Amino acid sequence: MKTILIMNGPNLSMLGKRDPKHYGSGTLRDLENACYLKGIELGVNVQCFQSESESAMIRKLHSSMGVIDGIVLNAGAYTHYSIAIRDAIELIKIPVIEVHLSDIHNREDFRNTSVIEAVCVEQVCGLGVKGYLVAMEKLVEKYMTDDSSKALSDGASAEPSTPEALLGEERLALNEIDKEIFVLFERRMKHIDRIAKIKAEAGMPTQVPSREAEILERVGNSVEEQYSAAAKALMQELLRLSRERQKEINKEV
Ligand code: DQA
Repeated sequence: MKTILIMNGPNLSMLGKRDPKHYGSGTLRDLENACYLKGIELGVNVQCFQSESESAMIRKLHSSMGVIDGIVLNAGAYTHYSIAIRDAIELIKIPVIEVHLSDIHNREDFRNTSVIEAVCVEQVCGLGVKGYLVAMEKLVEKYMTDDSSKALSDGASAEPSTPEALLGEERLALNEIDKEIFVLFERRMKHIDRIAKIKAEAGMPTQVPSREAEILERVGNSVEEQYSAAAKALMQELLRLSRERQKEINKEV
């Protein structure tokens, strides 16, 4: 499976506290969660990285070689003057789409210039968080096809060869899948909270055994047979956590 890196530069950790006119009201976490969900839809792994520091960003770009297939980069203010980040993008031979939440061409003059634009495959700006999702789609559709990555990589093979390298790549993919699972877990629990409030206010019972049995059966049938028992056990644990959460909410309402 291919991996997209979402890289955010300085001050983007402060989303939610920065000027909402330019940057919206959501947090960095909201933005990253939207990217993880988009990754599920597109069938790619998503890795998110944010740093206030130019050197950390450059190191992350270097270590992406042979591991990452496409990058969505909002370099923040570094966009306008970091030749070092520009050079790093150029040398890694990975397609990078430059993204900005705000429309940098319609703000202060010093934001009009991007020193990284020429080494990025495209620039997307002024679309807010949606711009990141659009960039992800573009990477998958236009720049991460097998032919295009070969063209960018100067013919050098990025396939890991040693067992350690293979293991490293698998573990990285697993970490990203775990993150996606927990984004979905958080979404599930938010629905549970809403359901619990509706039930508590209407005086309805928390536990409906027939519905739980139906969910377990559906889960068992939705995975390959070899994983069916494990998936049911996992679902049972989720149902138990949901029941506990509903009881807590019952006490609050
Ligand atoms: C930004 C625009 C930059 O000019 C600014 O320094 C940022 C955010 C954007 O997303 O609109 O930090 O990259």
